Amino acid sequence: MDMKKIAGEEAAKYVKDGMVVGLGTGSTAYHAVNAIGEMVKNGLNIKAIPTSNATEAQARELGIPLLTIDEVEYVDVAIDGVDEIDPDFNAIKGGGGALYREKVVASLAKEVIWIMDESKPVKAIGDFHLPIEIAKYGSKQAMAKMEAFGWNPVLRVRDGEVFVTDNGNYIADLHLGAGFDIQDVKEKIGTIVGVLEHGLFLNFCKRIIVGHPDGVEVIENPTK
Ligand code: A5P
Repeated sequence: MDMKKIAGEEAAKYVKDGMVVGLGTGSTAYHAVNAIGEMVKNGLNIKAIPTSNATEAQARELGIPLLTIDEVEYVDVAIDGVDEIDPDFNAIKGGGGALYREKVVASLAKEVIWIMDESKPVKAIGDFHLPIEIAKYGSKQAMAKMEAFGWNPVLRVRDGEVFVTDNGNYIADLHLGAGFDIQDVKEKIGTIVGVLEHGLFLNFCKRIIVGHPDGVEVIENPTK
């Protein structure tokens, strides 16, 4: 079984008629969007807010009715992937560079569901690089500040070019190592001029759906 696909399809079951749905970004969210598209073809009546240009294109192709962010007051359910998540539901997101829109949409959501294959849950986050979205103007100075904090920032490059987000910004990927001090890093990030958003999503989700080779596991967050 495709672990990402079955997790995405399971999450789509939480989408009900009349809902405003946040559509995540990445290779796992892709499957959830496909499943929701299928439900829309079969008569489901929803409106959706995509978290990236790529997801918007996919949703349009599938005929899912979309809202712009200015039209959204709240989101009933947001479904998205993660890069790493610890037992306290603290996650790193933004491997695909969509962290800012993902965080805006998740922060408007009554319910956040994260979907993943079984490689994503970890004891402590930080082996995966932590993405920080930074303005182009002043990016050199912002990177120097992150370097001075000892975070080993690397400006993201894709296909030989500096990666530019859907918002026209750069991404600095921090190499912190598993077990880094989450609160300390979060606080210090907030002091750096030019940072738009970071990829730490701390206790955002109501449940996670983990795809395993033999089926899905749904884990509820007891604090939500
Ligand atoms: C997009 O920027 C990310 O936050 C993704 O949600 C995250 O990287 C998970 O992606 P995959 O499902 O492709 O692993």
